[in-house]
Amino acid sequence: MSEAVHPVPEDFQAKIGPDELARMREEVEADPHRFWLEQAKRLDWYEFPTQAGDWSFDEDDFHINWYADGRLNLSVNCLDRHLAKDGERTALIFEPDEPGEGRRWTYRELYEETCRFANLLKSRGIRRGDRVMIYMPMIPEAAAAMLACARIGAIHSVVFGGFSPESLHGRIVDCDACAVITADEGVRGGKPIPLKRNVDTALERRDVATVIVVTRTGADIPMKAGRDISYSAVREELATECEPEAMGAEDPLFILYTSGSTGQPKGVVHTTGGYAVWAATTFEWVFDYRREDIFWCTADIGWITGHSYVVYGPLACGATSVMFDGVPNYPDFGRFWETVDRLGVTIFYTAPTAIRALMREGDDPVKAYSRKSIRLLGSVGEPINPEAWEWYWRVVGDGRCPVVDTWWQTENGGILISPFPGATPMKPGSATKPLPGIRPVLVDPEQKILEGAASGNLCLASAWPGLMRTVWGDHERFFQTYFSTYTGLYFTGDGCRRDEDGYYWITGRVDDVINVSGHRIGTAEVESSLVSHPKVAEAAVVAYPHEIKGQAIYAFVTLNAGEEGDDALRKELNQEVRKDIGALAAPEKIHFTPALPKTRSGKIMRRILRKIAEGETGNLGDTSTLADPGVVDALVAGRQ
Ligand code: PRX
Repeated sequence: MSEAVHPVPEDFQAKIGPDELARMREEVEADPHRFWLEQAKRLDWYEFPTQAGDWSFDEDDFHINWYADGRLNLSVNCLDRHLAKDGERTALIFEPDEPGEGRRWTYRELYEETCRFANLLKSRGIRRGDRVMIYMPMIPEAAAAMLACARIGAIHSVVFGGFSPESLHGRIVDCDACAVITADEGVRGGKPIPLKRNVDTALERRDVATVIVVTRTGADIPMKAGRDISYSAVREELATECEPEAMGAEDPLFILYTSGSTGQPKGVVHTTGGYAVWAATTFEWVFDYRREDIFWCTADIGWITGHSYVVYGPLACGATSVMFDGVPNYPDFGRFWETVDRLGVTIFYTAPTAIRALMREGDDPVKAYSRKSIRLLGSVGEPINPEAWEWYWRVVGDGRCPVVDTWWQTENGGILISPFPGATPMKPGSATKPLPGIRPVLVDPEQKILEGAASGNLCLASAWPGLMRTVWGDHERFFQTYFSTYTGLYFTGDGCRRDEDGYYWITGRVDDVINVSGHRIGTAEVESSLVSHPKVAEAAVVAYPHEIKGQAIYAFVTLNAGEEGDDALRKELNQEVRKDIGALAAPEKIHFTPALPKTRSGKIMRRILRKIAEGETGNLGDTSTLADPGVVDALVAGRQ
């Protein structure tokens, strides 16, 4: 197979070049304990840990701990420790939906705002270990809210503003939250998002004691006496100092809900010490971070990428991080590059879906801006096709900026497979090689570990500091989901090919998770939403390739006897999914069918459904095990 290889640019080799990377790999092999304690020195600790990793993936001795006897506070690491030297340095640049209307917060301002928030939470009786939901736009107050929780030891759970009230409700119930921090409204692409109204709806069936509302648009919103507090109304009275809690390294820092192949979303739990070490370490390694950088990760804080690379990683390293509350095509398709020029962005990190959407608009909106400040480009969230990679490199980066294609997952806390821009020659479409200390293995369905060039299911053979510790409230589910498929290994759910140079090529999910525009959606969740409609008997949801979104959702639906499937019902079903989950999970296509293809034991043959959704109807494979092979002809005829 002939693949383009892009060499490492000279000027990136100063920090971590090929020799340094080789040395790091040797070090972690020879003495992992020492290597990982060394990485922990990036942070300030009240008590520096004496142990690094202590873990076992085996069922009878299953445990994962990192830096267990260390004590620290992550908000102190992101704020207080920078104040003496860098109090006036910009921590966050807020870039709102409307270009140019932003503001900057220095480290001191962010510190003071965080302390105010922390004091407000404390005044409402919120304590260490309590759960606080954050349902906010990408405004600096959202980062302050996260850091405030970290400061007092409360566990935050950020919910993306695009999720429905029903989704927010489910998460509040699951983690038994006592407070919600929100804003009156968000604004995206010129349109308002009714955040507070959504919160009110979410709380109808299960209330919380405190709702803090930050003013974003100034919209007139109802406030519930005794529960709702306007942040701007009380802000001035709140003290700008707040004593931080000394947290154990293994105390939970946050819960982030993510979709899996079965059931409702899982609360992924990350703890303080290991997560912080991993976010800061990978930020420095992968982005070749330098003090003069202006770092822009376009992800929302509702996703893990926003947690690790908008907030915690950059701030722990004292960097200047951009918080973007807009979309790539508003006011027009030049938005990213106009903003890059205006803010002097040096490192730009986004998702393939955005790159593909912009690529479709041609080179002109890019070339209209100089982009000369950019020195490094990154990609995250889904496989990037080589064409999109090349376009990103050639057009956006003018062929002079390395592209780091970073593979990782919510569960991982931070990047696991990625080039080092100063040390790893790049192959477009490959996330290249594991970071030091990360041990990917490819496994076949018979549990055999594959050597050399091979394709298989991607597992990780050892733990790293940023690995999740449990599923909130369900430790058994944690083990079952990730460690029971392959004995002694963490199973990622991804398929992967390793080439003859040891490069990893992620091929996408092999389980029932769909990656739509880099957002994870479980087929089971969408199906359960569809069948909740009174006219629906059964539903099966699969992915099909989509030019911009990467994957899109194709739903096969059978109706109750006597019901007719038409466009009006398609609309209703779409609404149902938007209500239950959010617009991001709405099926692109809905295919009404009299029956689903099932085996004689009643199992839906998704393989066949996938082929039909993909349009591969000439090549459906073996259909002889179907209870009624005639079903297939009807399905093919009804393809959307
Ligand atoms: O399938 C992989 C894909 O996204 C999944 C993880 O999704 P999530 O937990 O939402 O985290 C996304 C941001 C870290 C993975 O199982 N994925 C993520 N990054 C890449 C990727 N697939 C290919 N290449 C990537 N760089």
